[in-house]
Amino acid sequence: MLKGKSALITGSTSGIGLGIARTLAGQGCNIMMNGLGDPEKIEATRVALETEFGITARFHGADMTRPDEISSLVETTAAAFGTVDILVNNAGIQHTAPVEEFPPDRWAAIIAINLSSSFYTIHHTVPQMRRSGWGRIINIASVHGLVASANKAAYVAAKHGLIGLTKVVALETAGSGITSNAICPGWTRTELIEPQIVARAEALGVDIEAGGRSMLAEKQPSQQFVSIGQLGQLALFLCSPGADQITGTAIPIDGGWTAQ
Ligand SMILES: NC(=O)c1ccc[n+]([C@@H]2O[C@H](COP(=O)([O-])OP(=O)(O)OC[C@H]3O[C@@H](n4cnc5c(N)ncnc54)[C@H](O)[C@@H]3O)[C@@H](O)[C@H]2O)c1
Repeated sequence: MLKGKSALITGSTSGIGLGIARTLAGQGCNIMMNGLGDPEKIEATRVALETEFGITARFHGADMTRPDEISSLVETTAAAFGTVDILVNNAGIQHTAPVEEFPPDRWAAIIAINLSSSFYTIHHTVPQMRRSGWGRIINIASVHGLVASANKAAYVAAKHGLIGLTKVVALETAGSGITSNAICPGWTRTELIEPQIVARAEALGVDIEAGGRSMLAEKQPSQQFVSIGQLGQLALFLCSPGADQITGTAIPIDGGWTAQ
């Protein structure tokens, strides 16, 4: 379905971003990976994408706190593949603390990575999407772009902001062949939430699995984690012709979290 197209996926060295990369690559899409991690592992992941799916995969290590490096990431992707057809803004970090104890440097880092980086990627990508008359912007927000939880001041602010940015870009690009949408996952078992599961397990004096179940019981009515594969399938649907008129939305995939 995506043969000959290219996707730039920020934060695709692990978790949800890597899952989306695998799903899009499975449809013939060329991939620009980005993210942090051990260079050897990243290279092995890149090669695996190429051999498993017969596509071209590249890696650019832009730090999402650095506007100059983000500009280079977009330029390098366009140079490698001709255009950036699909932009998935996925890189993200978390820090939890009460607002009066929230470290200012964590606030700044979360706003930079979880929100401002998407402005920069979109800013640099939209002109060439307009020239090609087709584009998909998919922002990985969160249920925390729609509702709040305690101790997540920066994360909730950034994700609400990301949904606002998604809507503005949708209005500005409407009718151009470009769509701009946000995906809002609930709990998904990745490295990002592992510290929260560990903290919950320690607080309750239970094992890690029971800590995870307790977090689900508190927020996610299905009592099941969202899977990385399910998020990949939703991103793929947003790239399909069936989604041509879906723009400016924030789509929950959260086992009922935000229905409450
Ligand atoms: N896991 C969940 O329950 C959940 C729920 C809702 C939303 N999300 C969102 O999904 C996205 C992916 O998170 P995940 O759960 O897969 O976690 P993850 O930790 O596995 O992935 C985060 C990715 O971002 C990259 N990254 C972090 N800082 C970076 C930086 N400065 N520059 C470049 N890349 C950087 C990491 O290297 C990694 O590839 C995030 O935006 C997160 O907020 C996750």
